[in-house]
Parts: sequence; structure tokens; C-alpha cells
Amino acid sequence: MADRVLVTGATGYIGSHTIVELVNAGYEVVGVDDFSNSSRDVLDGIAGIIGRKIPFVEADCSDMAQFSKVFESYPDIRAAIHFAAYKAVGESVGKPVEYFKNNLSSLLNLVDLMRRQPSANIVFSSSCTVYGEPDEGALPISETARTKEATSPYGRSKQICEDMLKDCGRAYENLKITALRYFNPIGAHPSAKIGELPRGVPQNLVPFVTQTAAGLRKELSIFGNDYDTPDGTCIRDYIYVCDLAKAHVAAVNRMLTQDSERYEIFNLGTGNGVSVLELVNTFIKVTGVALPYRFAPRRAGDIVKVWADATKANTVLGWKADTPLDEVLLSAWNWEKKIRNL
Ligand code: UFG
Repeated sequence: MADRVLVTGATGYIGSHTIVELVNAGYEVVGVDDFSNSSRDVLDGIAGIIGRKIPFVEADCSDMAQFSKVFESYPDIRAAIHFAAYKAVGESVGKPVEYFKNNLSSLLNLVDLMRRQPSANIVFSSSCTVYGEPDEGALPISETARTKEATSPYGRSKQICEDMLKDCGRAYENLKITALRYFNPIGAHPSAKIGELPRGVPQNLVPFVTQTAAGLRKELSIFGNDYDTPDGTCIRDYIYVCDLAKAHVAAVNRMLTQDSERYEIFNLGTGNGVSVLELVNTFIKVTGVALPYRFAPRRAGDIVKVWADATKANTVLGWKADTPLDEVLLSAWNWEKKIRNL
């Protein structure tokens, strides 16, 4: 019997791609989502790729009565990957109570339920936002870099959740935790059956780029071209969502089969910094589509440059994000075309 992995936030962007990779790797899954920021159709997209419907429970993880039913129906859960959380940096500034309530309580409920399981392995969705603006000379940034004062309630919720997990890991002997610090996930499954589905005007770069290319937005604003970087625009580490998904499989494999530490952190990035302008020009080159853009003022709160030292994930997890940016951006464009019937 395959080991069962619980995936919260199963119909979200990273959750859906991770389910596909877990099933490809031979795991059984159970997905949980309350569709507060996703669509039921994602379940059909996943089924279209893997050839069957996944076991799924509609539940709000911050509601213990709803969430605990998942464990009653699926008592064989051996590991959990926790994606369910609010994730909009800007929105979190005006809604700290909602962010802390949702992001902290759903994780606490998960730990409370998992610690009763004989095998309590938790993978937590964290973010490179915990590093803030890296110090001069700290790039590429490694897991040993100190974390900094968070610039948003969203970022702080990730820091607090990591701290909570550390304490829980110390207290409960059967608990093993892996915190995965994502850099900037982009792209869509090559089948174009699942991808990113932002609600309203996209806040993130790539969905804004693809929506502009599709004619939904007039032009892309590139926020700031006077930064201290080679072309003046901000630098990020853009990682393909399918590569990112595979890292979750590697993390679960490690916790289930290796004598790993009880609390481990991994950076998940490519190790390459790419500027906003480089990404935009690559998109234009590989798709051949016109992309109107203009330089606009800096966006408040933006980090100037950050990219990962992913050596630990490369060596310890035996995982590497190596899909070329051309291919990743094409996958994002194919997905946009599919959902817009272009
Ligand atoms: N950008 C633009 N125009 C846009 C959107 C974004 O120029 O319309 C620029 C931003 O200024 C930034 C870069 O593109 O320089 C990337 O911006 P994103 O919003 O796509 O990503 P961020 O790096 O700001 O944020 C992401 C995630 C967060 C996470 C953070 C960690 O969205 O959840 O990475 O650094 F916390």
C-alpha cells in the first residue's frame, strides 16, 4: 500500500502541481481545500493529468471540527504538506487579524492532528520573504542567513509559523518537520491542465505579463528601473512550479525513508538571479508575442535583489530546479492561452 500524504490547499497553485508529482512518484494522497481562493475545476485538471480523481475533502483547515473529519476518513495519513494559507503580501497589510488567524490556526490545527498520528511528518510552505532584504555580500542567500524583521503580516505569519513548528518539533518526539522556503514560483504544468489562477488584477509579475500578452491588461508596469542592479530593475530567483512540486516529493521521501533531522529548512530556488527586464525580454523572445510595458515608480516594500543558495536542497534532497526559463515562460503562456481560449 502506498503511503498517504495529506495536501492542504490542494486546489491552489503549488498544491495542485504537487499532488500531480506525488501521484507520479507513487504516493496516495488526500487533498483538502475550502475553495476560498481556488476553483473546484482544478480537481478536474488534476484528474485530467493523472487519469483519476484524487481523494478529496472540502474543509477549512482553520476550523478544527471540519479539519479533524479528514483524519477520521483517512486514518492512514503518514505525511502532510501544508499549503493552505493566505498569501497576498499587499492585502495582508490591511488585514493582519485575518492573516494571523487563518495562517496560524490552520497550522496549529494540523500539528495538533498530526501529533496524534504514529508517523507525524509535516512539510511547511515557507517563503524567502523571511530573509527580508539580504545584506551586502549575503547573496546567494543560504538557510544559515539570519531572518529579518518582516515587512508584512504575511511575511511575519511565515516567520511565526516556522518558530511555532520548531517548538512543536522539540516537544513532540514523533514529529518531523521540513520548512521549504520558496523563492518565486512561476509557470504551469506542461499539459496546460493546471496553472496559476489569480483572482482579480494579478499582483505577481508573471500572471500580469501573460494577461497583458493576452490583451486583458493594457500594459505591464515595471516597478522601478533605477535600482542598484545591472539594468536597474529588481532581481529574483524564478523557479518552475513543477520543479518546486518535485522538491516536496523529495522532502516527503526524505522524512519517510531517511534518518533526517527532526527540523530541517531548505531553500527552493534555481540559484540564478533574473531581473524583471530580463524576464520580460525572455518572454517576448520565446513567445513572439508583443508585450507593451512601461517603467513605473518603485513598488513599496519591494526587495531589490534576492536569489537562493540552493546547495543544501541540491545535495541533501538530491533535487535541482533545472527547467530553462524559456520553457517555464512558455508553459505560463500556454496556460494563459488555454484559459482564455486563445
Ligand atoms: N513586478 C513588476 N510589475 C508587476 C508585478 C511585479 O515590475 O506588475 C516586479 C516586482 O516589483 C518585483 C518582481 O516583479 O520586482 C517580482 O514581483 P512579484 O510580485 O511577482 O514577487 P515578489 O518577489 O514581490 O513576491 C513573491 C511572492 C510572495 C513572497 C515573496 C518573497 O509573491 O508571496 O516573493 O520574496 F513572499
